[in-house]
Amino acid sequence: MTSLVPRPRSVIEHPGTVTWVSPLRVSVDRVFRGVVELFGDDLRVSVGWDVVIGDAEGPDLDVRRDDSLGDEAFRLRVGATTTIEASTAAGVAYALTVLRQLGPAALWSTTATTLDSAQLACVEVVDGPRFGWRGIHLDVARHFFDVATVCRLIDQIAAHRLNKLHLHLNDDQGWRVEVPTWPRLTEVGSRRRSSPVGYEDLQLDDDVVHGGYYSAEDLETIRLHAARRMVQVIPEIDLPGHAQAVIAAYPELGNVTEPLEVWTRWGISEHVLNVGPKALSFAQEVVRYVAGLFPGSPVHIGGDECPTIEWESSAAALAVMLEHRFIDARQLQGLYTERLATALAADGHEVVAWDEVLDAHVPPGTIIAAWRHVSKGTEAARRGLDVVMAPMEFLYFDWLSSDHADEPVAVTPQPFFTTWEKVYGFSVIPSDLEPEFHHHVRGTQAQLWTEYIASRDHLDYMAFPRIAAFAEVAWGTTGDVDEFRGRLEGHLDRLAAMGVRFRPLDPA
Ligand code: ACM
Repeated sequence: MTSLVPRPRSVIEHPGTVTWVSPLRVSVDRVFRGVVELFGDDLRVSVGWDVVIGDAEGPDLDVRRDDSLGDEAFRLRVGATTTIEASTAAGVAYALTVLRQLGPAALWSTTATTLDSAQLACVEVVDGPRFGWRGIHLDVARHFFDVATVCRLIDQIAAHRLNKLHLHLNDDQGWRVEVPTWPRLTEVGSRRRSSPVGYEDLQLDDDVVHGGYYSAEDLETIRLHAARRMVQVIPEIDLPGHAQAVIAAYPELGNVTEPLEVWTRWGISEHVLNVGPKALSFAQEVVRYVAGLFPGSPVHIGGDECPTIEWESSAAALAVMLEHRFIDARQLQGLYTERLATALAADGHEVVAWDEVLDAHVPPGTIIAAWRHVSKGTEAARRGLDVVMAPMEFLYFDWLSSDHADEPVAVTPQPFFTTWEKVYGFSVIPSDLEPEFHHHVRGTQAQLWTEYIASRDHLDYMAFPRIAAFAEVAWGTTGDVDEFRGRLEGHLDRLAAMGVRFRPLDPA
């Protein structure tokens, strides 16, 4: 039996195999035609096969609608005529990933290979995800990744039946989206003079300009590419902390008079937005603009790691505290959370924020991305807020992949490291969360912060095989890690066919 990853909920093996050759004849319910056309595009790229959609007698594949199946669920029966049933296009897309996994790895190739025929085992699969939010986060602020690289990651996400891409679009070290009414965000904020060399503590600089940003058209390309792959893009504008690039572009939005540059070090800048009306209006306008590029998507408003040191020594901020009768400067951050969440909700977006927002007022309905610790997810769920579990200890794929001395420099030095086995052991529902709150756990997300990831190959190395292990966690079908290891070894052939420069399971 081939190595299905993530493992389906139910697989029944029947004797025999079917043999597929080009052209594949497919009949498809009209609502699912687009998904099957994409499958055809994929097979044309990988093995040069034709997929002919029509109503031939006895097709190789028959894709039907069955509204009794849940969102994203599917039934797949491989036989003389293979059938797929689903109620949504996502369900069909996921069934097609299983079908491709049943064949040879060449079916996943991103460069043309030759394949005369494919033997598929006669299995019956009934499947569907446990969690609706199965996300990968990519930081394009610390290092910018071009549209092609982002689309390639989307393809990889989709191949693992994950369904969200969270794009972290700004940070102290760079602003990555063009906003016509605030042109200096990209004219100034998208370029930094230098970046650290090696581990941050060494305090070495490369003195090489790093920059890049997406136009609205670029983001539309990414959004449409993702939608075709059943992946929803979640844009993040991270404010009021992580704002040094913004303040470099528009000093009046900060708290200090000395000029700042786009930050050239990693870490957390203490330069944050001020809490005056102009800065709050700026945040609202820019976040609404970016949200508008992603109709219907949840929007992430950041909110993490906002030092209050500048607010504490600012007369203007203290006046705002008095006006609101705040007793702690951290409450000032709630002004941003409230303003942005209200505006986005009025525009029809769900709102996501990092778990620090729990320290001040959080509008009901805000989805909390629990990153500092599992307990932050537990806290949010008990407070009646929905949660995406993203704890750094398990799901920060910028951490070292192992304790081997020759791992490339990563954000967290030893003793902190996250093996794929550790990822595989992550339990999405916190063990101490009472059952009546479990429904608040929307799902889970793995993070690719990129301070120490500057190239596509390195991104692959940090992402895989950990994303493969994560996919099974998010799908909700994990079991014995040794059994998974066997399937993962088989799955690596597919990753290789896809051109992924994954980290070997046992490096020499
Ligand atoms: C974070 O890692 N600062 C969300």
